[in-house]
Amino acid sequence: MDALLEVRNLTKLFPKKPFLFAPDKRSMFAAVEDVSFSLQRGEALGLVGESGCGKTTIANLILKLLSPDRGEIIFDGEDITQLKAHREILPVRRKMQAVFQNSGSSLDPHMTLGKIITEPLKNFGLPIKGKAEQYLELVSLPPDWVSRKPHQLSGGQRQRVSIARAMVLKPKLLILDEPTSNLDVLTASQILALLRHLFEEHETAVLFISHDIAAVDKLCRRKAVMKDGRIIETLSSLSLEEASHPYTKKLIESKLSIDKS
Ligand SMILES: Nc1ncnc2c1ncn2[C@@H]1O[C@H](COP(=O)(O)OP(=O)(O)O)[C@@H](O)[C@H]1O
Ligand SMILES: [Mg+2]
Repeated sequence: MDALLEVRNLTKLFPKKPFLFAPDKRSMFAAVEDVSFSLQRGEALGLVGESGCGKTTIANLILKLLSPDRGEIIFDGEDITQLKAHREILPVRRKMQAVFQNSGSSLDPHMTLGKIITEPLKNFGLPIKGKAEQYLELVSLPPDWVSRKPHQLSGGQRQRVSIARAMVLKPKLLILDEPTSNLDVLTASQILALLRHLFEEHETAVLFISHDIAAVDKLCRRKAVMKDGRIIETLSSLSLEEASHPYTKKLIESKLSIDKS
């Protein structure tokens, strides 16, 4: 079967200095450079690398929040590279959802959890009856919390609500960009366990983005390692024997030393 997501030679340039008017080539740098990878249906793929290496830019390009300078993005059999208008992007959005590091803290404080979770269904004119309760349960929150508001929840609980909201459309692809980075270690590991459980039960493919190779390894067999805008190698384990790039070896060694301590 063909891949769910195919990213080919993706490049995104940004101006080296902000607010540059009509920047020329020399004043630009590649935040993402010649990046190619594919994601199979139902697969969880990790994208790992240090802060600033271009991970979020890749997420934004796939989500059509940014346009690439070069390359192609094929999603669910459709070339979405050139889609620009809201009405063109909308049907893609139904199949592709995202959870960001700050998703939990940016929930609308005036809306109840029930409204927050079912809003995407409402936007697409889909039935909402019973869905809020069902999806609260899915993320291990009490279903009778539908009438609560975000400020009554902890950071981890709010992030669970964002996951419920992202899952309610049953997307084919879920992009998780540092979804646990704002949470304490224990809450983060509970959310990772929840995500793992969700993906095993559902057929959602996942692009899991993180600076933390150990977190990525919990969810994803294949891990693409990024450095300076490029994917330098893709690993299927966290063994030093498999890693060929010195940077990857360093990442793995730092993870192994944490395990020992
Ligand atoms: N809108 C933007 N304009 C200019 N530079 C940007 C913009 N967004 C990101 N960058 C730069 O692109 C690089 C990659 O950023 P990002 O994709 O956010 O990295 P990561 O998510 O891996 O931390 C960084 O150097 C960042 O400063
Ligand atoms: Mg980022």
